[in-house]
Amino acid sequence: MLSRTENELITRTGPGTPMGELWRRFWLPAMSSSELPAPDSPPVRLRLLSEDLIAFRSSDGRVGLVANNCPHRGASLFFGRNEEQGLRCVYHGWKFALDGACVDMPNEPAESNFKSKAHITAYPCREVNGIVWTYMGPAEFEPELPQLGFNMVPQANMYGLKILVESNYLQAMEGDIDSSHSSFLHAALAGPLDASFHERRRAGIAVLRGQAMDFSLDENRAKMQAADPAPRFTTKDTDFGVLIGAARRASEAQDYWRITPWLAPGYSLIPKAPGDIPSQCNARVPRDDETSWFFRIRWHPSRALNAGELADFQQGGVFFPDLIPGIFRPVDNRDNDYHINREEQRTTSVTGIRSIPQQDRAVTESMGPIYDRTKEHLGTADSGIIAVRRRLLRLARQLGEGQEPYPAAHGGIYRILAPALNLPKDVPFDEGAREHIYALQG
Ligand code: FES
Ligand SMILES: [Fe+2]
Repeated sequence: MLSRTENELITRTGPGTPMGELWRRFWLPAMSSSELPAPDSPPVRLRLLSEDLIAFRSSDGRVGLVANNCPHRGASLFFGRNEEQGLRCVYHGWKFALDGACVDMPNEPAESNFKSKAHITAYPCREVNGIVWTYMGPAEFEPELPQLGFNMVPQANMYGLKILVESNYLQAMEGDIDSSHSSFLHAALAGPLDASFHERRRAGIAVLRGQAMDFSLDENRAKMQAADPAPRFTTKDTDFGVLIGAARRASEAQDYWRITPWLAPGYSLIPKAPGDIPSQCNARVPRDDETSWFFRIRWHPSRALNAGELADFQQGGVFFPDLIPGIFRPVDNRDNDYHINREEQRTTSVTGIRSIPQQDRAVTESMGPIYDRTKEHLGTADSGIIAVRRRLLRLARQLGEGQEPYPAAHGGIYRILAPALNLPKDVPFDEGAREHIYALQG
């Protein structure tokens, strides 16, 4: 539970708010490169941290991001002409370069030096592997780009999608670090329809794991029990954020640990079982206080994604939702109850909603645009959420006292992986899994 004051502090990220100041100390994923397909292509609206902005690609291919409103008399630069290394306001013709300088002011006398005083708010941008990043903070604190795994590999090793989420960023991000929900929200149901809910859910997990499903076999029951829905959580503060470990019993001597690193201010790495499969990162960025951007990313540290993986990601709305063209809103959304299928809910899945990201969005958005955390009841399964909130609030308070956030200025500490593995019961998970978590740091 948070107090009303804390809930306000942690969820509001507009200009001048403490949490907004913290977010503005980091490079943030802002948009897909494909939204600006070519030099001098049409400008695009972008809302980020409650600021209305206009993005454009200049003649030399670089990306500019400026305030929506022209500093002359406020017309939107969305209608601007994207021409010769700058964006020209169509109202009176003022033209702005990528750094925000006014480079032409045709409605003032040629001898006037008024032009040199006019300036539009402009934020630096960089592109890595199809994502445009921006930094919206004070120039003197411009940090390093975070060396997240997917920023350090060839573009062929990753696939990502930008998705609109119709809720505050925090409740969406809390879903990423809330390991216990996956045993319910995302579970399939299988087995006889007259079996109990929990039996059918365990059978569904067994099916998903490719195991034979036979209620008569004790051995299989044991396997189903292994899908322990009530893991024990341990959290550790780190330089990049928080490590969240969820332990389930594997044997007398070992626990099965799923380790979710949360990296400030908005990245959650989803635990990956051993084997040659892509890793996943969920990046959350506030769009405004009531909506957020979700960059859902799959990537592989050592090879290009193969044709089968790409086909899975690109089709059918299973791994990535189908989006309404141009607005990043999923086709399954709250206006159509995410196309919930009550018959499937009765027979084959807990929700009747067709894919994991849609199931997540349905519950997250159903909490209301900004969840009122004075009303919640957190249990032991929520300790990861509690640790991350504390960390965010502490970083914001420290910044208010003049202490710059350490991770913003240390891009190398973002080289983190999220393992899932068996560890001896007597070893702390962060020590036992150290070589896996920090493998990219060499
Ligand atoms: S409002 Fe943009 S040039 Fe006048
Ligand atoms: Fe989920």
